[in-house]
Amino acid sequence: MKAIVNHSYGTPEVLELSEVDPPAIGDEQMLVRVHAAAVNPLDWHMLTGTPYLMRLTEGLRRPKRVARGVDMAGVVERVGADVTAFRTGDRVFGGARGAFAELVAVAAKDVVAVPEKLSFEEAAALPVAAVTALQGLRDQGGLRAGQSVLINGAAGGVGTYAVQIAKAMGADVTGVCSTGNVELVRSLGADRVIDYTVDDFTADGRRFDIFLDNIGNRSLADCRRVLAPTGVYVIVGAPKKGKLLGPLKRVLAAKVRFVLSRRRAAWFIASETPDELRALVAMTEDGKLRSVIDRRYPLTDTAEAIAYQAQGHARGKVIISVVDPVVDIVEP
Ligand SMILES: NC(=O)c1ccc[n+]([C@@H]2O[C@H](COP(=O)([O-])OP(=O)(O)OC[C@H]3O[C@@H](n4cnc5c(N)ncnc54)[C@H](OP(=O)(O)O)[C@@H]3O)[C@@H](O)[C@H]2O)c1
Repeated sequence: MKAIVNHSYGTPEVLELSEVDPPAIGDEQMLVRVHAAAVNPLDWHMLTGTPYLMRLTEGLRRPKRVARGVDMAGVVERVGADVTAFRTGDRVFGGARGAFAELVAVAAKDVVAVPEKLSFEEAAALPVAAVTALQGLRDQGGLRAGQSVLINGAAGGVGTYAVQIAKAMGADVTGVCSTGNVELVRSLGADRVIDYTVDDFTADGRRFDIFLDNIGNRSLADCRRVLAPTGVYVIVGAPKKGKLLGPLKRVLAAKVRFVLSRRRAAWFIASETPDELRALVAMTEDGKLRSVIDRRYPLTDTAEAIAYQAQGHARGKVIISVVDPVVDIVEP
């Protein structure tokens, strides 16, 4: 089968489309034929081996696990001896290491069924980005109906889901994005959209119960200033420049800055559970959540897809369309 691998850390040029053996499956696992996979900033981190801190687990000099991709949707090809929840032919989606491939091995307990009305691409887009949005708002922010939420980076993978999830949970939502994405963010349900090329979201005096920050481009003093007296600053993303510690430097600085305040700074690493995937599916079935797909690339062009996403201006999700690719025409 074909899979996207990198044997050394580097830029997208080190990615190879390789012919490899299909993964072996254990008794509680399944072999899934991948139809679509989603690109995430995590793929860039795994490819480049940055921040360096992650090399402690991923391999000091070269990646221990060479297959890239973490989100997929596809069709069960074979089930392990102890799998009872699924059978061959079922449509499933979830997190899966090595998702940029024709086949992937997953634990049956980690994936859920793709509902009839959802395409493989829409389902593959969900796991990392939508679960991050859900956990950031619900678990870290403690969001309750009627609260006000500010989402910086509202037009990206996490942001497009966060706007919709916050609305579905009854929040008053303000999104921040550039001019070309204002209408998109509004169409997702934002009550207010701030175009950062025109207005400064820290300067209009508005205060929020939760500030979900996917970008981390403002000073911590600015971030604190937009919070209500007991507000929570939820750090999701940070600029790529911290090569050693990544977002940790900002997280530690935020904890120190907020220590004597009733306001709180929170950081987390999202990890999806089947219950959360099912909750997201339910929201799509209720018409409260949709995946915004920016571009689709065939498996052969995964390096370009990762490079595009790493530029930081994807509009929703970037998808690798593996089976019968419907590929968008991309201007060079
Ligand atoms: N903590 C976790 O577990 C976790 C999980 C997932 C992701 N993350 C992190 O969260 C961050 C966001 O992830 P993502 O998947 O949403 O990334 P993404 O899809 O690449 O985000 C792209 C979006 O960022 C927006 N953006 C760029 N510069 C901006 C600015 N100055 N102000 C406001 N928006 C700006 C762009 O909108 P415009 O084009 O309109 O500028 C674009 O829509 C990344 O740093 C990622 O590593 C963390």
